Amino acid sequence: MTEAILLVGGQGTRLRPLTSHIPKPLLPVAGVPFLTHQLARAAAAGITRIVFATSYLAELFAEEFGDGSRLGLELEYVTEEVALGTGGAIRNAAERLRSAPGEPVLVFNGDILSGLDVAALRDSHVASRADVTLHLQRVADPRAFGLVPTDAEGRVRAFLEKPQTPEEITTDQINAGCYVFTRSVIDRIPAGRNVSVERETFPELLASGAHVRGVVDDSYWLDLGTPAAFVQGSADLVRGRVTSPALPGPTGESLVLPGARVHPGAVLSGGTVVGPGAEVGAGAVVDGSVLLTGARVAARASLSASVVGRHAVIGEDSVLDAVVVGDGARVAEGNELPPGLRIACGAFLPAHGVRTSASPAPCTAQAVAHSGVPHASSAAH
Ligand code: GTP
Repeated sequence: MTEAILLVGGQGTRLRPLTSHIPKPLLPVAGVPFLTHQLARAAAAGITRIVFATSYLAELFAEEFGDGSRLGLELEYVTEEVALGTGGAIRNAAERLRSAPGEPVLVFNGDILSGLDVAALRDSHVASRADVTLHLQRVADPRAFGLVPTDAEGRVRAFLEKPQTPEEITTDQINAGCYVFTRSVIDRIPAGRNVSVERETFPELLASGAHVRGVVDDSYWLDLGTPAAFVQGSADLVRGRVTSPALPGPTGESLVLPGARVHPGAVLSGGTVVGPGAEVGAGAVVDGSVLLTGARVAARASLSASVVGRHAVIGEDSVLDAVVVGDGARVAEGNELPPGLRIACGAFLPAHGVRTSASPAPCTAQAVAHSGVPHASSAAH
């Protein structure tokens, strides 16, 4: 197995406003565009050629990775004029594959951070002569996922929608977003229309008697789709809880990238990343957070599990817990921002613009604007 299709066309809506200008797979995670970690892992497993299935902000992928030679890979880019869904995207990208009908092809989502043994997944697929083999992950709380029960031999028995009641939780195995397809199976996906591989292709394969297998791998796995998962994945890489051949330096409690300035009186912990050209002032405490390029955290500000977008500014003595601040936004001094708050790109939050008690629920910058803060803005997207 030397070829792969990489799904990177999604809009990353759950990560807005971070994904307003950068597709989710290109957001910097532990110092490099997130995808770099998974590309390096695929290369290490013997993949030499990857077809990117792009749609949203498609041109940025080629700008970042070019022909792939820097990573020891040959990369090709296929762009959908209209997003085709996960299955439609796989079918569309398959036009560029060179593998023979009987050969295995790796297909993976561009937003999963995992320690999966890709070679073992391939070996299992080849040995069992399956049509498709899915990487399955066991999770403590499967309510947010489609479930994939298997029999004792690893054959998939069903694809179940997200469970609504405790009785419907019949397994803790979920689809982990990485598959080995026998090439000819991809070619049978309908062309030219929107297809969901999870909701349409897999159930239909099962119904038609195809050999669909699941391989449970309990190594590190995280879907970086939400702000909470994004900061966690970044921190886990920095702290060495998941390894990556693409990490730019040794792991520890924080990663300070070249050109960043951190005052000696500031405290960085919990796998915090300070991006290139970012600044952290005296007495600031930044825990488990991500400061993107050129972000500025002023003196005595306190951040935990938050993301500060490119060139955004956090004023002195502000307190942010699980907040996402869009590119170029400014939070004036002394603000205490409630968990879940998202501030739009370019927005301005004046001093004491949000009172925690007045905004108990997660809200967007638009909601902040409606709550009467005069200059908060959801423009500049
Ligand atoms: P949300 O909008 O926050 O749900 O994120 P997302 O757009 O990334 O969707 P989701 O997490 O369900 O997508 C799983 C993977 O499939 C991601 O790697 C997406 O980039 C990719 N993907 C989803 N839809 C499409 C599509 O229509 N075309 C292509 N090429 N990729 C897609």
